[in-house]
Amino acid sequence: MQNYNVSFGNKEIIFVVEQFGSPLWFYDFEVIKKRIGDLRSFDIVRYAQKAAPNVNLLSRMRHLGLAVDAVSAGEIVRALKAGFAPSQIKYTADIFDKEALVLVKEHSIPVNIGSSDMLAQLHEAGIEVPLTIRVNPGFGHGHSQKVNTGGEFSKHGVWHGELEVLAQNAERLGFTIECLHTHIGSGSDFAHLSRVVSAMEGLVPAACKNLNTISVGGGLPVSYKRGKQNNMNLGKYYDMWDNARKRISESIGHNIQLEVEPGRYLVAESCVLAAEIRAVKKMGKNLFYLVDAGFTDLIRPAFYGAYHHISIISRTNKELGKEVDAIVAGPLCESGDVFTQEEGGTVVSRKLPLAQVGDLLVIHDAGAYGSTMSSNYNSRLLAPEILWENETFIPIRKRQTFEQMLENELAFC
Ligand code: LLP
Repeated sequence: MQNYNVSFGNKEIIFVVEQFGSPLWFYDFEVIKKRIGDLRSFDIVRYAQKAAPNVNLLSRMRHLGLAVDAVSAGEIVRALKAGFAPSQIKYTADIFDKEALVLVKEHSIPVNIGSSDMLAQLHEAGIEVPLTIRVNPGFGHGHSQKVNTGGEFSKHGVWHGELEVLAQNAERLGFTIECLHTHIGSGSDFAHLSRVVSAMEGLVPAACKNLNTISVGGGLPVSYKRGKQNNMNLGKYYDMWDNARKRISESIGHNIQLEVEPGRYLVAESCVLAAEIRAVKKMGKNLFYLVDAGFTDLIRPAFYGAYHHISIISRTNKELGKEVDAIVAGPLCESGDVFTQEEGGTVVSRKLPLAQVGDLLVIHDAGAYGSTMSSNYNSRLLAPEILWENETFIPIRKRQTFEQMLENELAFC
């Protein structure tokens, strides 16, 4: 599997920052298109919009034939706004909150249930929609323990041993179980993902004869480190599921569709977070670059110890200086506001060119779980999102304003 780099370069990044300020998110839709193309063999590609839910990205993905996942009432609203038909949306969450239940009922949105309580609540609300059951196969794996969604310590899905009883109850209540779904974690790898195949085949008899789809979940990895090829062979991954699909179709006597539900894989490499270096200082032997983006923008390094490639662009047209060991940190009143750290919070340095205040610092592969996990902590504003499409800069989200940040509080002043 190859890496896809963004097609804009330093010139465009400088231009976009001059135009819209820093920090900002800068996306290249071509990368997303290519990644969608990689998954075309699957019958249904359902985008896990939690990775990057901007409605402008969603509507473009809809035009490319994708279905969409929604984990909350808010994500249902986004999907509808982006023009998805209710039948193209699937609500997949651990609970129904009241707002979600109302929207599911109003639009007859198919749901993926993860507990018998969800089944009971659907029934009580008089909702009749096609059902998917999310199954915890008893194991999971992700790039960090925080994104492992299987096994006895995970809250997600229905425990595999309880599927049969739940399926029988659902049928008794008049629901049709169309789809079985598993998602063992995010940023997994071939070895772990391939274990799901036989687990899924073992689950099918418990689920019943009306199945028409198997959803293999998301979790497809991308390589964040430069020069390191991802060892995930997508062709092999598809073939493995395609063979399982044939066996399952034969055993239940009709054809089954294969669905995949990627988030990270489609968007991670499509976007950079561009920030400006605002201070360069020494702490004993350590050199710090302090930038105007923090974990309020990109939380992945602070939360998971996630690695993102970092580069620097000179603003003075001068050649960048020799490489030095630098620690990259943000503006927040919080010691963990460091982009170069490992899981557990160990701060590490990175080889970067010697830079000065005013240079741009670019954090790469920030498209998945980047902007969407931003917050207003320290009363910092949510950064704008700009799309690079057909060689033009298209704003797809404005920078938040102080007025917007205070809106709901000022209502009581
Ligand atoms: N399907 C379900 C049911 C999920 O819970 C998720 C991700 C996906 C699909 C998409 O997974 P992906 O293809 O993106 O691995 N914030 C973390 C990742 C959290 C993933 C949550 N669920 C991160 O920054 O790495």
